Amino acid sequence: MASTGKDFSKYFDFSNAKVLNESDGKTTYRINGRDITINAAPNYKDEKRRGKEEIQVHYESAIPPELMELGKGKTYNITTYGCQMNEHDTEVMKGIFEQMGYLPTDDRNQADVILLNTCAVRENAEDKVFGELGHLKHLKIEKPGLILGVCGCMSQEESVVGRIMQKHGFVDLIFGTHNIHRLPYLLQDALFGKEMVVEVWSKEGDIIENLPKKREGMRGWVNIMYGCDKFCTYCIVPYTRGKERSRRPEDVIAEVRELARQGFKEITLLGQNVNAYGKDFEDRDYRFGDLMADMAKIDLPRIRFTTSHPRDFDDRLIDVLAERGNLVEHIHLPVQSGSTEVLKRMSRKYSRELYLDLVGKIKRAIPDAVLTTDIIVGFPGETEEQFEETLSLMKEVGFASAYTFIYSPRAGTPAADMEDNIPEAVKKARLARLNALVGELSLQSNKLMLGQTFEVLIEGQSKNNPDVLAGRTRTNKLVHMKGPASWIGQFIEARVTDVQTWYVKAEPIIEELKQEAVS
Ligand code: 5AD
Ligand code: SF4
Repeated sequence: MASTGKDFSKYFDFSNAKVLNESDGKTTYRINGRDITINAAPNYKDEKRRGKEEIQVHYESAIPPELMELGKGKTYNITTYGCQMNEHDTEVMKGIFEQMGYLPTDDRNQADVILLNTCAVRENAEDKVFGELGHLKHLKIEKPGLILGVCGCMSQEESVVGRIMQKHGFVDLIFGTHNIHRLPYLLQDALFGKEMVVEVWSKEGDIIENLPKKREGMRGWVNIMYGCDKFCTYCIVPYTRGKERSRRPEDVIAEVRELARQGFKEITLLGQNVNAYGKDFEDRDYRFGDLMADMAKIDLPRIRFTTSHPRDFDDRLIDVLAERGNLVEHIHLPVQSGSTEVLKRMSRKYSRELYLDLVGKIKRAIPDAVLTTDIIVGFPGETEEQFEETLSLMKEVGFASAYTFIYSPRAGTPAADMEDNIPEAVKKARLARLNALVGELSLQSNKLMLGQTFEVLIEGQSKNNPDVLAGRTRTNKLVHMKGPASWIGQFIEARVTDVQTWYVKAEPIIEELKQEAVS
């Protein structure tokens, strides 16, 4: 657990803070007229430390019986920013709220509790949250009983917590990514005390199993590991999400089996770096390839995973994926840059050549594998030639799509101390060139689908036209087709008839559908 104060004081002027009370490791300060109880505050030094202590797994329920009724007759509203890990954390928090008797609401004006589950990976994500807090201030003034909380990755940042404490005193609750299971207690403290409550553990805690989760739809996310030990120089995640720790295979398998029983059609296994799964087990030699082999035995139509690190992507995993079955042939393999020099400065621990070798191996084993990636442009010192190496790698691999970003310096990471010598206009121009290429490659890979038949999991109606259904192939390609709403949640065999840059159009193969309906 983190200390309160000391390193944190870089971002927070404790000399203006009056200590009102100190007990049980908690300190209550008066800051700008607001009383703030700090159970624990974030601390970068602790977040960076990777201790040897063994991670304990706890199976008890998170919600004590006396708090089960706390939310009766009340509503909650959560806004989620960022990645699927955050989306899944929100599912856990929804599960906790609902076990406490709270009901969900989309209308913030009606909500008794509003949480912002935040993302710290780039600055613009943070700006959005501070903008949102500005709006919510008015609501809080109108409704003083409202509990307003900030959680997720931004809460793990010293600078953010300091800024909220000093400038956004109307916030009631700040808690970190390692404190989610403490939500019932924190809500209780925020409801019954008048202070702002801050609880951000800098060091990851144990693994808590059996937390409730509220999943919706036919696709589910399952965490297989938490944290990241890679420390790529641009990335805040190892600080906000702590050290790598894997859930035990039997717990993951039991959860996926249960989802299969409930009728889920597709599962995505989640981790910041799923290929490092199992590295932290001391009692067994069981890695991601082994887990995927066990997943293949479960009767659930599609299993995906995200996100991969090229460094830990081993041959065993490729062999297991090549067996297919319910393991789909889509691999998201972030490369970040096509230049070995830039990769070195990013501390990615592979070269352009190694990445291309890995892609070669994957393609030989799974010739129709669809690869997607993440790219950062404008990393400190990236020259025009180095950027062009990224373009040439994109073409060489033939990615079907890519998430592309302009480098955003994150306080506390090594790259934030590198000289950011690329003018903004150059960064924007590189991003535009890259995106144009991503569009071309996407269209090219869609064209390969013309005339072919695919199994499409229908996810819902198209956003712009309710007569058109939208679904995904195993390779995660977006497919539009005409059909009744009753197909939502079903697998439909369809032939691709037309292609666009970002999706393909298809026609269902009716004969087969009829047969399916009869059998
Ligand atoms: N600036 C820009 N993009 C970043 N990413 C992570 N950190 C940064 C940063 N500081 C991107 C990487 C990663 C994806 C999730 O976000 O490409 O793979
Ligand atoms: Fe960040 Fe690198 Fe870890 Fe991915 S592997 S979460 S980019 S540090």
